Amino acid sequence: MKKSKLFILLILFPFHIFANDIEINVIIENCKSCHGQNYEGNNYIKSLKPLEKEEFISKMIKYVNSNNDHVMSRISKVLNKKDILKMADEIYEKIE
Ligand code: HEC
Repeated sequence: MKKSKLFILLILFPFHIFANDIEINVIIENCKSCHGQNYEGNNYIKSLKPLEKEEFISKMIKYVNSNNDHVMSRISKVLNKKDILKMADEIYEKIE
């Protein structure tokens, strides 16, 4: 293959897809620090496991939109709807 063609391929290749995946996984690692490795919670924090995927999504959207001092309201401000949907796929497709 000619060098110029390889160069164009590299430019067109959607590396941002990988970047996005890494970002969601990193965010989820953060969630685990409070919610537990398998989202099972602890003495202070409820398990995320009993939630339905749809419930998870609507709760997260409520947190993003609420302006109270709850820890989830505070930390969810950096998330958008797309992030939440991706997280839901990631979390609820891995929970057995
Ligand atoms: C600093 C600790 C902390 C971090 C980090 C954290 N959470 Fe939470 N989360 C909480 C607490 C505390 C609650 C409230 C639990 C309760 O009401 O018993 C909560 C509640 C929730 C709920 C609602 C659970 C329910 O049954 O009503 C969801 C969903 C949730 N968190 C998702 C997440 C996600 C997704 C992340 C990562 C972006 C995350 N949390 C990161 C502390 C945390």
